[in-house]
Amino acid sequence: MIKFNDSHLKNFISDSEYDAMQGFVNVAHSYLAEKSGQGGDFLGWVDLPVNYDKEEFKRIKEAAEKIRSDSQVLLVIGIGGSYLGARAVIEAVKSPLYNNLKKDTPEIYFIGNSISSAYLSDVLSLCEGKDVSVNVISKSGTTTEPALAFRLVKTFMENKYGREAARGRIYVTTDKARGTLKELADGEGYEAFVIPDDIGGRYSVLTAVGLLPIAAAGIDIDSLMRGAFDARGTFSDPRIDANECYKYAVTRNCLLRKGRSIEVTVAYEPGMWCFEEWIKQLFGESEGKDGKGLFPAGMIFSTDLHSLGQFVQQGARNMFETVLWIESSDKDVTVPEDAQNSDGLNFLAGKTMHQINEKAFQGTVLAHVNGDVPNAIIHIPCADAYNIGALIYFYERACGLSAYLLGVNPFDQPGVQMYKSNMFALLGKPGYEQLRDELKKQL
Ligand code: PA5
Repeated sequence: MIKFNDSHLKNFISDSEYDAMQGFVNVAHSYLAEKSGQGGDFLGWVDLPVNYDKEEFKRIKEAAEKIRSDSQVLLVIGIGGSYLGARAVIEAVKSPLYNNLKKDTPEIYFIGNSISSAYLSDVLSLCEGKDVSVNVISKSGTTTEPALAFRLVKTFMENKYGREAARGRIYVTTDKARGTLKELADGEGYEAFVIPDDIGGRYSVLTAVGLLPIAAAGIDIDSLMRGAFDARGTFSDPRIDANECYKYAVTRNCLLRKGRSIEVTVAYEPGMWCFEEWIKQLFGESEGKDGKGLFPAGMIFSTDLHSLGQFVQQGARNMFETVLWIESSDKDVTVPEDAQNSDGLNFLAGKTMHQINEKAFQGTVLAHVNGDVPNAIIHIPCADAYNIGALIYFYERACGLSAYLLGVNPFDQPGVQMYKSNMFALLGKPGYEQLRDELKKQL
């Protein structure tokens, strides 16, 4: 199971500081357990690993099986919480090079997460001569980026297969009753999957939002859910000293109170880059409001030790690091002996790359702690579906608790709406005339 290691925090937070937070944690915990805090209608993710829709889960597996059997490419259209989780899991469990590896599952491209015509056109050119399926994902069903991408992809699919056959290759994941996408799905007869009402975008990776693309990549979604199920059992105790997930959330809060307003999540595996992106969205949208919050950053070491590492070691002391340490690799390689030893590296011969990576991790933690940067460490036994499922739940729970400790609603994102409205107004969407006139004066 996931372990939180606080051994390098001793000089930064005392035991009595944790004790002093227990009363606040009791309240925040009750908000999560009893759905009694702000945003309590969006706590469906808390018990999802137990009470997810088993019939839909079966349909997801069947759809994934069909996609694997009839498609060489799956286009996943979505933005924010409607794509980051799926991509994070696929890159962590399979590989950041998933699309380039030899495999019997489709290449998966994520689109509709920007408004770049170059990116979209490049992805469509990669589809030439290949069989394609599409999973369009949007809870609201109205977000511009995925809606625009889907309009183009729908035309592409209908030109390629004809309208009738294209219908059998398009899968929609959206609200059960509302939104333009739902109406479109019903009108065209696309197979549809549901994002439950009580689960917001950034907490939705363990619903059909994440599960269909993840299953299409050949990842065992039963194991993923089992990991989340076990994490729910392990991390539901309100006592800080009995719940390492809550200890992590409290650590963030204590460090913020001491001026550490930036949390850098660090991983030593490039496969965890998108998982860091998912964490950034989870914390950024859940906590960054009402003038509050920790700024969530992400780095991959040792890559970033040769760029941002200088800043971490000796720059402004306003950050702390949370290291995601993956304890073992199933693809480890061993350094060979070299008769000439012209590179002087024979002292490493016989060691595995993972063992060397571990020394880089240990050496860096000590250097950064000595440089006055608190380091929290999260140990993950390995990056398989089970442990990544557990890590997802660990983070969702930590984030919900942490945001309640801050005194904000973890489950709304009013700031995201502002740019969307401005963009609609500037593009001339009907209903936004007054805002457009106001904005024009400011441009
Ligand atoms: O977490 C959230 O709610 C957001 O980041 C959404 O996931 C994102 O804005 C996409 O929204 P939708 O799924 O409605 O297209």
